[in-house]
Amino acid sequence: MTKRELLYEGKAKRIYATEDDNRFIVSYKDAATAFNGEKKAEIKGKGRLNNEISSLLFTKLASKGIQNHFVERLSETEQLVRKVTIIPIEVVVRNIVAGTLSKRLGIEEGTAVPEPITEYYLKNDELGDPLINEDHIRFLKIADKAQLDEMKKIALEVNTLLQAIFTECGVRLVDFKLEFGFSTDGSVLLADEISPDTCRLWDLHTNERFDKDLFRRELGSLTQGYEEIFKRLGGYESCT
Ligand code: C5P
Repeated sequence: MTKRELLYEGKAKRIYATEDDNRFIVSYKDAATAFNGEKKAEIKGKGRLNNEISSLLFTKLASKGIQNHFVERLSETEQLVRKVTIIPIEVVVRNIVAGTLSKRLGIEEGTAVPEPITEYYLKNDELGDPLINEDHIRFLKIADKAQLDEMKKIALEVNTLLQAIFTECGVRLVDFKLEFGFSTDGSVLLADEISPDTCRLWDLHTNERFDKDLFRRELGSLTQGYEEIFKRLGGYESCT
């Protein structure tokens, strides 16, 4: 599959057209950003690790019945995906209090959440991705009730499957963010990426951080943390 014109450049990825109208190529960048782009850095190897980890997780999810946009890994930093129109909502699922939930509710990080909490954020850099609810989503005509119910159902299924995958390799899935797209036939499809950029991942025993908080909070080497996640998931051995 050959890369054609650049269709979109985000903070962490570039999306290219291909000769197939129903396929895009996603190219993962080494750029790291946090706090809505206020903090920036180039971190060599980050693009490769996110592409490898995301390819591996999308493949595992597909094998467990969660359809998603991933088609195949093309290179260390690129993957082929199905064409979707991204729905401008970030769906966050939380199993343990951390990050903005801890700040918003004044509850200590690390506190367990008995039932997963689902949140929606509007993807809008100018507004700083505000927290919104289902009524706002319908009011903004971003998705109807059935589409939203479908996204929430898939997000909770992904949570159950990812929790099992990560627990098996000694990692606690604290929270994560998913994005969905509308396929050419109008159905909702899991898209974007699932990586340590979009998940909080702590060691099951020591609570050591292996995710983007290493960069956001300057807790240690981001690539060492991401490399540890890739290794625990089976690394290159699991891709063969
Ligand atoms: O910052 P917050 O606590 O709301 O993040 C919740 C989860 O969503 C974290 O795993 C974080 O990495 C992810 N997230 C993301 N992209 C954003 C905001 C949050 O991947 N724009």
